[in-house]
Amino acid sequence: MPDTMQPADNGKPIEIEDIGSNPNPEDTIGEVMNRRLSRRAAIRGLGGAAAAATLADQLLAAAEPALAQVNGPSTLTFAELRHQMGQRDAVPEGYEIQTVIRWGDPVVPEAPAFNAAAQTPEAQAAQFGYNNDFIDFRPLPFGANGSDHGLLCVNHEYTDTQLMFPGIGSGRDARLRTTAAQARIELLAHGHSVVEIRKQDGKWGVVGNSRYNRRITGETPMRISGPAAGHDLLKTSADPTGTRVLGTLNNCAGGNTPWGTVIMAEENFNQYFGGAAARSGAQSDSYRRYGILPDATYAWGRFEDRFNLDREPNEPNRFGWIVEFDPYDPTSVPVKRTALGRFKHEGATHAVNPDGRVVFYAGDDERFDYVYKFVTARPWNPTDRAANRDLLDEGTLYVARFHDDGRVEWLPLVQGEGPLTAANGFPSQAEVLINTRRAADLLGATPMDRPEDVETNPVNGRVYVMLTNNGNRTAQQANRVNPRAANNHGHVVEVIPPGAGTSAVDHAATTGRWEIFLLAGKPGVDAGARYHRATSDNGWLSCPDNCAFDAKGRIWIATDGAPGAAGVADGVYAADTSGYGRALTRLFYQAPTGAEVCGPCFTPDSRTLFLAIQHPGDDPGSTFERPSTRWPDFAEGMPPRPAVIAIIRKDGGEIGS
Ligand code: FEO
Ligand code: CA
Ligand code: CA
Repeated sequence: MPDTMQPADNGKPIEIEDIGSNPNPEDTIGEVMNRRLSRRAAIRGLGGAAAAATLADQLLAAAEPALAQVNGPSTLTFAELRHQMGQRDAVPEGYEIQTVIRWGDPVVPEAPAFNAAAQTPEAQAAQFGYNNDFIDFRPLPFGANGSDHGLLCVNHEYTDTQLMFPGIGSGRDARLRTTAAQARIELLAHGHSVVEIRKQDGKWGVVGNSRYNRRITGETPMRISGPAAGHDLLKTSADPTGTRVLGTLNNCAGGNTPWGTVIMAEENFNQYFGGAAARSGAQSDSYRRYGILPDATYAWGRFEDRFNLDREPNEPNRFGWIVEFDPYDPTSVPVKRTALGRFKHEGATHAVNPDGRVVFYAGDDERFDYVYKFVTARPWNPTDRAANRDLLDEGTLYVARFHDDGRVEWLPLVQGEGPLTAANGFPSQAEVLINTRRAADLLGATPMDRPEDVETNPVNGRVYVMLTNNGNRTAQQANRVNPRAANNHGHVVEVIPPGAGTSAVDHAATTGRWEIFLLAGKPGVDAGARYHRATSDNGWLSCPDNCAFDAKGRIWIATDGAPGAAGVADGVYAADTSGYGRALTRLFYQAPTGAEVCGPCFTPDSRTLFLAIQHPGDDPGSTFERPSTRWPDFAEGMPPRPAVIAIIRKDGGEIGS
């Protein structure tokens, strides 16, 4: 989600992504010393002396080839777009945008046609939800690796009430004006959709009567498993067992598993809950660390007790988890996997370790919060799918400490180890997981500039951390891995596990190295912006959020927060990750006004790139009646509709080739 505003209890607006910010992001002595280094020395030292090729080295080495080729040293062949804002989106010459599915389109067979002016809860529960984010493409049949037929699995993160309902007015506070029925429509527009899709004659379409098609919503019954399941802090009047919960909320990005299940990541769950207990209740410290305030930004607490802290103080403890489900079984019950911790999960993406254990990387999207990874206790079983069913219930959660000398250390969040003791409020592993943020605080994790997607490049084995921005970092808080104060444009960090670049990358290792891949913003204008030297006036980006890798290991970065006032829309930028074109970003897709781009997902053959276009028309003053764009339909009376698009090359070739 973009930076969003809600009133704080002191009456001063604060940004939602700020709520619950780590209150104590302290400097180390080393960080203070490093700020005394010259800027050039600091840039050269990124990643430490052991680093084989720092960003600065690449910048210097790449200068000459940049002059020799039409596209500079980049291996990407598309003609770069120009930075621009518009009601429509855009791709380079030779590419085509196809709309696959939009908010309100039927998902399950009995779904009615969309009627934007008269939406109902019953219709919404059967139709595609709002604000699509994470996308996974799961080939059909199960076990195949095809690219023309599969399950499109899509998260629905949140709702833009002001663009959903006639007569509700503008602004995010429209949520507080909803009727009970509208509030329930919003709840049912959250969650996830599974739709069978097929490409025929070069066109993607939904298979309307598929038995796989399914909606998961804010009301879908789910199971809670792992070390925190059944703990007193998870019990409510509706669920005295602490093991069953209704729904999943604020599913931002996600991931999948080697055994073909899909992961939904619950991110800004805090904003749905409110009540006086946020300040005066027994759990107020925990609420505060997760940004739960007396006034929720949604009106749901007026209609359902479970969103009212004063009635159900434990309900928020049942959100903020990683949720796993099997898209191949439309009757499967989604499971909240508590072993992976509770925080504002951007996503959770996996890499398979040489020993078969599976490692999930995850960012906690908040200013000054942390990067995590989870390592399963056991290897996954490629020949017996059922044997992996509860693999995510056992393992070790780690949080990252980034040292200024280029080392990264992964600190285990294990009860009884280090400061995670009963005396410090952690009598069991359940408490460590329910209050993951505070446990990570005690371990001395490194506060980062809003960690979003964390994804492994399958070609070079490096792990890319999208740090979207952090305008609140002061010069005193700057360090090597978050090197800029008032970091409004974000940056991308590479984590380099032992063995990266070989066939045996040790993602389970507790140490590794790191380097900075790029520092976003406009070169020459935004202090410290750094890319490949040949990056063009159109190729620079702002606020990296999600990313994907094509079959060649090139990175495709989707942004959320581009400076529209400067005429720059959010979009997708592609770059080589190695060779002469390393970190030479090029603009490939420009979003419609108001939208961010989420969920970049390639088919296995890299011939289709799916994108989730989230909150189109979310501009100041934009309403259902008078939106800033009517993308993608451009039909009178139809509001903008979040939608999944497919980008293909008109000649059928690989994207970016
Ligand atoms: Fe939902 Fe961190 O973006
Ligand atoms: Ca976002
Ligand atoms: Ca995101």
